[in-house]
Amino acid sequence: MSGLTDPSAPHPGGVHPMAGRDVARVGYGTMQLPRLKDAAAARKVLRRAFELGVDHFDTAHFYGDGTANDHLARELGAERGVVIATKVGARPAKRGPMPMAPAQRPEELRQEVLDNLRSLRTEHLDVVNMRRIAPGTFPMGPRQMVDFDDQMAAMVAMRDEGLIGAIGVSTVSLAELRRALPAGIVCVQNWYSLTARKHEPLLELCRAEGIAWVPYFPLGGAHPGSTKATREPVVQEIAGAIGATPAQVGLAWLLHHAGNTLLIPGTASVDHLEQNVAAGSVRLDEQAMARLDEIRPASGIRGFINRFRRS
Ligand SMILES: NC(=O)c1ccc[n+]([C@@H]2O[C@H](COP(=O)([O-])OP(=O)(O)OC[C@H]3O[C@@H](n4cnc5c(N)ncnc54)[C@H](OP(=O)(O)O)[C@@H]3O)[C@@H](O)[C@H]2O)c1
Repeated sequence: MSGLTDPSAPHPGGVHPMAGRDVARVGYGTMQLPRLKDAAAARKVLRRAFELGVDHFDTAHFYGDGTANDHLARELGAERGVVIATKVGARPAKRGPMPMAPAQRPEELRQEVLDNLRSLRTEHLDVVNMRRIAPGTFPMGPRQMVDFDDQMAAMVAMRDEGLIGAIGVSTVSLAELRRALPAGIVCVQNWYSLTARKHEPLLELCRAEGIAWVPYFPLGGAHPGSTKATREPVVQEIAGAIGATPAQVGLAWLLHHAGNTLLIPGTASVDHLEQNVAAGSVRLDEQAMARLDEIRPASGIRGFINRFRRS
């Protein structure tokens, strides 16, 4: 049905361009790192990713109030060839269902860029994703309901000033992505996985425009209530047949499904990290892909969002 190819490939999953650079298609997202209270353990995960050929790291100042960025800067800041994509649109928060709060206003986007520059200890951010929080998708007051074009104008101004190398957008609608295209968008981060495919039209537009598609929650995220590829019986069956783990099959499906996909799975475990990097070498044949394509994505997204609305 499929199997493993060259697991020692220098760039896991091969490479794809983003922001004028070829980066490994299997990257790493730092959102799970602040769970590790031991800084040495967190930095070990980052070092191992780098050793395995990962050169694209996704992060945010609001992951652990600068903690994830601090680990990145200390462990990999001096390494050449690492592309760090960070994001703005939220700020750290001490209370609430998520340890972050919307910060969508143009002046807040600028402040978050400055916060990222400080916690990443740099004068220039490679890529910054403008994380849109659309009205009605998160509990927030009217001051946070900001016009999308005003946000993009703030991002373009910061790129013109040299604070930002390239702009991405996150959690945008198809219409918003179309509006953002003239600004020159290098990547799009929306929630997407084998079991959450509602943003397929955005993936298609990215493919047509040569934009990197960087799905977040590629494994369904850490929240126990969200839909996860690893729980699908077909995924488990294929994984057993080819000697891979269900997580690897979920990630490999993303890589096979669209050539412009860059993965940023998050983990606080070196063992899981090694599995995720090795997913870049998992081959799924046509029959396996056809069976995986048939999985009907469940409606976990709305339930997940509603949980935060109620709290
Ligand atoms: N733009 C945005 O708005 C946005 C939103 C959310 C996330 N992100 C980015 O996207 C990245 C990925 O999202 P995510 O980390 O939330 O979710 P994810 O990658 O879908 O899944 C992370 C969860 O899966 C587990 N996991 C990871 N590898 C595994 C493996 N091989 N086997 C079994 N379990 C495994 C992790 O637990 P362990 O730690 O125990 O491995 C964690 O619970 C984030 O790190 C962040 O950089 C962006």
